[in-house]
Amino acid sequence: MEGSLTLSEPAPAPAEVDISTLSFPRHVAIVMDGNGRWARARHRPRRFGHHAGQKAVRAAIEFCLRHGVRALTLFAFSSENWRRPKDEVGALMELFLKALDREVDELHGHGVRIAFIGDLSAFAPALRERMLAAMEKTRRNDRLALNVAVNYGGRWDIAHAAKQAALAVQRGELAAEAIDEHTLARYFCLADLPPVDLFIRTGGEQRISNFLLWQTAYSELCFSDVLWPDFDAACLQRAIAEFARRERRYGGLAATPGEARR
Ligand code: FPP
Repeated sequence: MEGSLTLSEPAPAPAEVDISTLSFPRHVAIVMDGNGRWARARHRPRRFGHHAGQKAVRAAIEFCLRHGVRALTLFAFSSENWRRPKDEVGALMELFLKALDREVDELHGHGVRIAFIGDLSAFAPALRERMLAAMEKTRRNDRLALNVAVNYGGRWDIAHAAKQAALAVQRGELAAEAIDEHTLARYFCLADLPPVDLFIRTGGEQRISNFLLWQTAYSELCFSDVLWPDFDAACLQRAIAEFARRERRYGGLAATPGEARR
């Protein structure tokens, strides 16, 4: 079925890049950009591109399951996307609703824990209830954490975390003096997961667009010109190979051969 998220048997990996020996990111985050341009190139409405983008979502989930990636976070709808034409927003909402109805059981069967991150209060009750039900149903799964960011913004996440910390202080559960990076980190979305190792943006733009601002402090950034509906397993393999080539220093020094890093 075109656009279905249904997971198929793992396809053999393209032979182009052998990534079996590479160190994999534990957490991959993706800005799925380019659906509109993909549709325009085919003289079709933008919603056609979003629909086609579901196939790439399926490919990314399959890839992560196959390679033991622990967490995958997808930017599906930003706080700013409400500014888009009403019919496009409506089409996206319908697409999310249908995807939830169709895919949750299958994902659950594969051990996927689904979480929606963002301000869910803005969504229609029917959609919000389906999102909460999917989270509840899959919350004990631990093979892959699939986080779908909806009505999400990195600045919203920071403000929300600060507010939660302030409320904890007000309730007497947290001393204001105790607030530092580590205590504040607990109040952010995805606090229970490893930080984002690899941040991918498709569609040719090279910006973060208010995605996971806190969680990407030390992420490796990978930008691809490929439009999201065309971003397949081979593209992901290339991103992993690129990630494996990077030297992650976290502000420290590069290790010199024969010398342990202090
Ligand atoms: C950005 O491309 C994409 C979106 C705002 C929507 C992403 C949604 C999907 C891929 C649908 C499937 C998702 C799930 C989780 C079921 P754009 O519209 O900004 O493209 P453009 O830059 O070419 O205009």
